[in-house]
Amino acid sequence: MSGYKVFTIAGASGKVGKAVLDELLRVKPELGLDVRILTRKETGNAAKDSEELEKRGAKVLLVDYADKHTVVHALKGTDVLISCFGATGLPLQTVLAKAAAIARVKLYVNSHWGAPMDEYRYGLTHMKIKDEPIQVAERMHLPWTYFRVGIFPEFTIHFPLLELNLSSGKSVIYGTGETPNSWTTIPDVARYAVYVLTRLPPSKLHNRVFHIEGDRKTFNEIVRLYRAKHPAEYQVTYKPVDALEELVQKSEGKDFFHALMIEYATGRVAHDPARLDNAEYPGWNPKQVADLL
Ligand SMILES: NC(=O)c1ccc[n+]([C@@H]2O[C@H](COP(=O)([O-])OP(=O)(O)OC[C@H]3O[C@@H](n4cnc5c(N)ncnc54)[C@H](OP(=O)(O)O)[C@@H]3O)[C@@H](O)[C@H]2O)c1
Repeated sequence: MSGYKVFTIAGASGKVGKAVLDELLRVKPELGLDVRILTRKETGNAAKDSEELEKRGAKVLLVDYADKHTVVHALKGTDVLISCFGATGLPLQTVLAKAAAIARVKLYVNSHWGAPMDEYRYGLTHMKIKDEPIQVAERMHLPWTYFRVGIFPEFTIHFPLLELNLSSGKSVIYGTGETPNSWTTIPDVARYAVYVLTRLPPSKLHNRVFHIEGDRKTFNEIVRLYRAKHPAEYQVTYKPVDALEELVQKSEGKDFFHALMIEYATGRVAHDPARLDNAEYPGWNPKQVADLL
């Protein structure tokens, strides 16, 4: 057991945050947890839903991220701060990390929840912002952790920009479609994270990156699985990596989406199977991509 009892989520109304909140509230009675939410006091989604969230057993704390003192005050007594900030909130994560260190939070969980990339290449260099809070935490002696989980299938496969468009019977696949990628559903990510954060001793949590993978599939396999479930006429075309690179170069590195698709197509968002930490949660039985098709 980690011994951590007071968990605070920042960004509990987002895709990841909601799932983490659901899981914390699910295990709260069994483990005797205190579950709290930080939300923006003027515009926060959790602020708007505070009555319902409080009824479900979470304490909602209103903060102004531009005023660090409000964050420090709200974090007093927190054992674990879990950041689930999305893209627009990422610049604020350094505020969170600093406030957590000042409030003597015992563990800061950085919002990463993404691919196992060690370096961000052209078109993705702004993603370095995700790692800045870790440097702050190191400087301020705040223990940290984060989770590299691969791609969320329920979000990505149906994302119109991706052109996979399974239900239309016409898919565009980037690259050859033969490169495996790591996939984990959002509820499985939340179950894994809450399990290790509550069950592992602090010595196995501090300053550690967790690598997890619910399933490993290529895009060609996903289309084949879909077609097996929904037999019908189907047309697949391929967009080579060269064409994606041209789009990124033309955009002078600003085309984030196609830059990310290059990483999908070339397998840089796939885990090294030898480095997986799935076994830290022995009963983890994550969904497979096929379950969502
Ligand atoms: N692996 C994948 O395939 C994948 C896919 C998508 C995202 N991700 C990653 O998952 C993490 C969480 O992303 P998400 O998509 O779940 O987040 P999201 O849905 O965009 O929401 C995050 C929350 O951040 C809070 N927030 C704080 N400051 C904010 C600000 N200035 N502007 C907007 N929101 C602010 C909001 O909570 P309040 O309103 O309560 O303040 C919001 O509900 C990110 O690190 C993201 O990169 C991974």
